[in-house]
Amino acid sequence: MVLKFDRYKLGNFPTPIEFLKNISNHLNGPQIFIKRDDCTGLATGGNKTRKLEYIMPDAVKNNASLVITLGAVQSNHARQTAAACAILNLKCLIILEQRLENAPDVYFTSSNVFLNKLFGAEIKVCPKNENIDNFVNKIMEIKKNEGESPYFIPVGGTNEIGELGYIECIREIVQEQKEQTFTHIVLASGSGGTHSGSIVGKIFYKSKINIIGISVKDNKNIQEEKIFNLAKKGCKYIRCPFPKREDVVVFDDFVGKGYGVPTNGMKHAIKLMAQKEAILLDPVYSGKAFDGLINLIDKKYFKDTDKILFIHTGGAVSLHAYEWAFE
Ligand SMILES: Cc1ncc(COP(=O)(O)O)c(C=O)c1O
Repeated sequence: MVLKFDRYKLGNFPTPIEFLKNISNHLNGPQIFIKRDDCTGLATGGNKTRKLEYIMPDAVKNNASLVITLGAVQSNHARQTAAACAILNLKCLIILEQRLENAPDVYFTSSNVFLNKLFGAEIKVCPKNENIDNFVNKIMEIKKNEGESPYFIPVGGTNEIGELGYIECIREIVQEQKEQTFTHIVLASGSGGTHSGSIVGKIFYKSKINIIGISVKDNKNIQEEKIFNLAKKGCKYIRCPFPKREDVVVFDDFVGKGYGVPTNGMKHAIKLMAQKEAILLDPVYSGKAFDGLINLIDKKYFKDTDKILFIHTGGAVSLHAYEWAFE
């Protein structure tokens, strides 16, 4: 059963599921499959397409003249929001938060930043010494005073509307891929909507699949609590039973020095995926998440008979902005 909420078609669904034969052989553990949400199709694809398919109708319903959102400098969410606004003929303002110290200039100008501009979005950078929430509120007020009707999308498109996108992703996995019974899903857990929406989807579609989030920023306790609360909100929104606390599993060992800061594990994971499967992961999310999966396999967290589905949430656009990290 497909959930009945307002939805615009912004991407191509269902995304394919592929068997990672070379990597599965190489790691000599469980079979690994990949759900190609990097191929969702909006502005080079990624997980935000799914969320925006439900968020943008809400913006239109609220008579938005301008969509405002925020993210890190190389935010993929910002790029996909700017693209969705272009399609829907809405103005878009992107607020960028400088979370990375000592990054070279290319990080601030290329890849997602360049594409935001190409899609016609206005960009404002939050000064380093200013609190991001205060800065966002200030910009919202300025835009209202200028006569705009701004619609605010929270960081990562994570709220109960955005979560609908990943409830739908689980429907694709559970209902449209019946021939494969996956034991585990592994995904990057950031602002949380992808992870929490997947948990809500698991409950709604009565799946037994174990969902493992690899944190890209916060420690295990903070991230699990956040995901648990988001999942409860999502369940309330679609009126389904709440998750159990133990349904929320996060590993925080692969963040390294912080959000967006390159790690050796991430670089190894990206190179392995490129050289064995010719698939591009990204340095901030899917690269760290895949590093997590490799390590969990090494530590025998899974049985060899398990079938793992790695959700590739996109982001490879930012590889160019991170070329320096691979030198
Ligand atoms: C490529 C990519 N993967 C994963 C994530 C994490 O998704 P979420 O913010 O829903 O946790 C993001 C978020 O921006 C992303 O851009």
